Amino acid sequence: MLFLFLLWAERKIPLPASASVPFSDSVCNHAKGKWVPDNRRPLYSGSECKQWLSGMWACRLTQRTDFAYESLRWQPKDCQMEEFEGSKFLKRMQHHTLAFVGDSLGRQQFQSLMCMITAGRETHDVEDVGKEYGLILSEGAVRPDGWAYRFLSTNTTILYYWSAILCDIEPINANDPETEYAIHLDRPPAFLRQFLHKFDVLVLNTGHHWNRGKLKANRWIMHVGGVPNTDKNKAVVSGAKNLTVHSVVSWVNSQLLEYPSLKVFFRTISPRHFVGGDWNTGGSCNSTTPMSIGKEILEDESADEVVANAVKGTRVKILDITALSQLRDEGHISHFSISAKPGVQDCLHWCLPGIPDTWNEILFTQI
Ligand SMILES: *[C@@H]1O[C@H](CO)[C@@H](O)[C@H](O)[C@H]1NC(C)=O
Ligand SMILES: *[C@@H]1O[C@H](CO)[C@@H](O)[C@H](O)[C@H]1NC(C)=O
Ligand SMILES: *[C@@H]1O[C@H](CO)[C@@H](O)[C@H](O)[C@H]1NC(C)=O
Repeated sequence: MLFLFLLWAERKIPLPASASVPFSDSVCNHAKGKWVPDNRRPLYSGSECKQWLSGMWACRLTQRTDFAYESLRWQPKDCQMEEFEGSKFLKRMQHHTLAFVGDSLGRQQFQSLMCMITAGRETHDVEDVGKEYGLILSEGAVRPDGWAYRFLSTNTTILYYWSAILCDIEPINANDPETEYAIHLDRPPAFLRQFLHKFDVLVLNTGHHWNRGKLKANRWIMHVGGVPNTDKNKAVVSGAKNLTVHSVVSWVNSQLLEYPSLKVFFRTISPRHFVGGDWNTGGSCNSTTPMSIGKEILEDESADEVVANAVKGTRVKILDITALSQLRDEGHISHFSISAKPGVQDCLHWCLPGIPDTWNEILFTQI
């Protein structure tokens, strides 16, 4: 009896059931709804949250003068959204770890969450625990591969790991500084394989690095089954992305048998809003009148078919933000980028506070 109790006590306490309140018995779909003005937004100040927010994404610190985009709230059609509160979040995540793994849009969501939890106010309750996850600045690197912070009051860890394409990457010749890299489309990132057992909530994303330009610039060579890919369908970038998304979902899903209390979300693609060109050909997104006015998202199916298909029939949940973010063309960095050349606009990343805060609000209702 005592032995059994000890076994039980060793296990982590599972997360409480979802806190969102559906209007009906059917599971509510947070992706359906509309944007409404709300003076309780934003949830933190973009001029204050300097501890967590990169300067390049804090539009309050740029020349931008219109901030109406900060004061819209997402109102789902069929479910009530529990109001986000940092203290509630930390309590719910006591002794737990939440990991974002993905590209720079995942990093935006990570910074957004840190600001939301602290309401943008400087805190000394947080310890840098990057070392526990090998997230240290290696020689010659501009930044580490990620960041991990622990809120000491509740022993809650929030981390971000940079994995732009969610698959394992290996140098083909480690001794050659000009080496090409094998991107193993059907093998999850080493970081995930190493640390998954430490996570209670995992939020994955990938998307904008799946293009010929990035593959070439990074000297990435597609591999499948451990050898260079010869399948024409997988050589097409969209086919390669599809294979990777399906592979990582199916691998994580298989791991859930071993870690049944782990909650995994795949965040759908974050839309870009370049008009009249692409990022390098003069595309812009400098409208300040939101196209969301008077619009509502009513579709049941996600606009991101790749992710929607991959998670179908698995225990991996979809965090579907594509259509709702599509309505928010005015929320990007636009021409207020502090690093871009004149004439180049950032219609991919979002101003913070801003749209990624909503992704976290929806995430909060499901953990
Ligand atoms: C913090 O949480 C981790 C993971 O659940 C646990 O192993 C550890 O003992 C906790 N630390 C404290 C001080 O409670
Ligand atoms: C994506 O991959 C899955 C699993 O291999 C396959 O069933 C599906 O047809 C693929 N979809 C596309 C659009 O290639
Ligand atoms: C928006 O950006 C484009 C391209 O940089 C520019 O030609 C246009 O004048 C800008 N419009 C406004 C309203 O600022």
